[in-house]
Amino acid sequence: MGSDPDAVIADILAQMDRERPDSARLRLTESFGGTLPRLAGVVGWPLDHSLSPALHNGWLRRYHISGRYLKLPLSPENFKAGIKLLQHLGFRGVNVTIPHKEDAFQIATRLTEIARRCGSANTLVFGDDGEIFGDSTDGTGFCENLRAHGVALHGRALILGAGGAARAICAALMEKGSDVSIANRSVTRAKALSAQLHGLRHVSWDDWPSHLGAVDLLVNTTSLGMQGAADYDWESALSKARDDLSVADIVYVPLETSLLRQARRRGLRTVDGLGMLIEQARVGFRTWFGKDPQADDATRRALLGALG
Ligand code: ATR
Repeated sequence: MGSDPDAVIADILAQMDRERPDSARLRLTESFGGTLPRLAGVVGWPLDHSLSPALHNGWLRRYHISGRYLKLPLSPENFKAGIKLLQHLGFRGVNVTIPHKEDAFQIATRLTEIARRCGSANTLVFGDDGEIFGDSTDGTGFCENLRAHGVALHGRALILGAGGAARAICAALMEKGSDVSIANRSVTRAKALSAQLHGLRHVSWDDWPSHLGAVDLLVNTTSLGMQGAADYDWESALSKARDDLSVADIVYVPLETSLLRQARRRGLRTVDGLGMLIEQARVGFRTWFGKDPQADDATRRALLGALG
């Protein structure tokens, strides 16, 4: 019986410069009782709140795949060396979360078009020849989830926020043919994003609700409404909306944000943040573990369980 592989890999990554890669590999193998399964994981700093291990390990159990998805805590200064070590340890790839998405973009030797447009990568696939393929699946996962909810992707969209998530979602929606505008509290950030994504419009944060009459899809990518964060007067904002507006929030704690609650009360179509998380994860799972996992109710229930 081996020791806990999550604890062993965390220890290996924490003392990378004091242990030889071959001895680290032996230790990791022993933690699995002598045979390494297929390995992937999530790299971030810190990682306490990541739902990805519950999601991927749930799928691995469901499909009886001999694999394991581990938490891979890596500090920013150790990112590059850590990725090399994970390649050496036999990992097939990793998801990348805050604060490493730009570094993941830099370390990739090949990139998808969408990752190039975003300037960041959240999924790395390690090739046998040492190549590192970088993809940005947040935006495409978001669009897949909208499609699953019956939301048309070629209309007019208004995105609130100008952070990394907004960038990925704008790039993906624009690629699908949406006419996209953003509104962000800090004008400088909004302008920087519209300069990066050719064709992206910008409306002022102070009067974004007045644009709702001409919009098919509203997406919140800001932290407004997230547990413990500030909120917004969505009720009066949505009074300007058309009856056929679709409203999506990428926040999933709480699952029904006050934005989604107000939208539901008005009878608007709503899309919560869990579906995007599931859809973006499918891409990596398919590549690393060779199976297209289901984004069904059982998957949602398992994630909700992990969320407590
Ligand atoms: P991510 O990369 O995950 O999208 P981020 O870069 O921290 O996260 O972006 C958070 C977004 O929430 C930003 O657009 C931020 O607006 P600013 O660029 O003006 O900071 C937005 N945000 C956070 N708190 C906000 C608030 N109280 N009111 C309006 N927008 C807020």
